[in-house]
Amino acid sequence: MAIEVNSIVKRFGDKEAVRGLSFSVSKGERVALLGPNGAGKSTTLKVIAGLLKPEEGEARLGGYLPNQLEAKRMLGYLPEDATPYMSLSVRENLEYIGAIRGTENLRDRVNYLFDLLDLGQYQRTKTNNLSRGNRQKLALALAMVHNPSVIVMDEPLNYLDIPTQERVIDSLMEMKASFLVSTHIMSIAERLTEKVIIISNGQTVWTGDIQDLRKFGDPKEPVEKIVARMMRSVS
Ligand SMILES: Nc1ncnc2c1ncn2[C@@H]1O[C@H](COP(=O)(O)OP(=O)(O)OP(=O)(O)O)[C@@H](O)[C@H]1O
Ligand SMILES: [Mg+2]
Repeated sequence: MAIEVNSIVKRFGDKEAVRGLSFSVSKGERVALLGPNGAGKSTTLKVIAGLLKPEEGEARLGGYLPNQLEAKRMLGYLPEDATPYMSLSVRENLEYIGAIRGTENLRDRVNYLFDLLDLGQYQRTKTNNLSRGNRQKLALALAMVHNPSVIVMDEPLNYLDIPTQERVIDSLMEMKASFLVSTHIMSIAERLTEKVIIISNGQTVWTGDIQDLRKFGDPKEPVEKIVARMMRSVS
């Protein structure tokens, strides 16, 4: 398994943000994590990335616990509010993080990411001076710089212009990685993944093949309406 989430419980004070959640992503599988605001998506992804420790249960990456070096090496994580080093330039951020992660052919990889994300013109710009969308592009590049085999991304296409969204979708589809992405945009879930996990109130509502979602509504009904109904049914 690329990712295993085993009966995770995560509390913040009295609030149980994740309530005994379990799922897995097998090697090479692409999965979308959907759910209303506050459902526990970002919290779950942070537990998988090792940023939060669950009160109960555990996450594993390729069989390793998130804080083990082997897990860190295989993971590419895009946080919800990615903050690169603001006083470094775009290139410095990528070369620094890429070097820490032991990236092979780092210079080529950085240049590839500049082309992919149309960031080359900003390579010497201080990160603090980037527009919101260009900062998101840098955050994506930082998540992918070491060619991770397991990708966990929290709303990856936020703020990106349409041409960049298309390039990112194409390149994620080309990578041989397994991935888990949270998104609110159904068309992105449908294009990027085969399977969806819908959560609400920190619990699974539905898991299955993304095409099967349509069976729960009329043939002409937008898939968003079907998903909204499923999310509401448990809240
Ligand atoms: N650091 C924190 N301290 C206290 N409560 C938190 C903290 N982080 C998250 N929560 C709470 O946990 C619940 C789940 O939050 P989370 O950010 O995981 O939701 P989400 O599904 O990612 O939502 P969104 O779609 O808005 O990004 C919410 O009720 C939130 O208020
Ligand atoms: Mg979130």
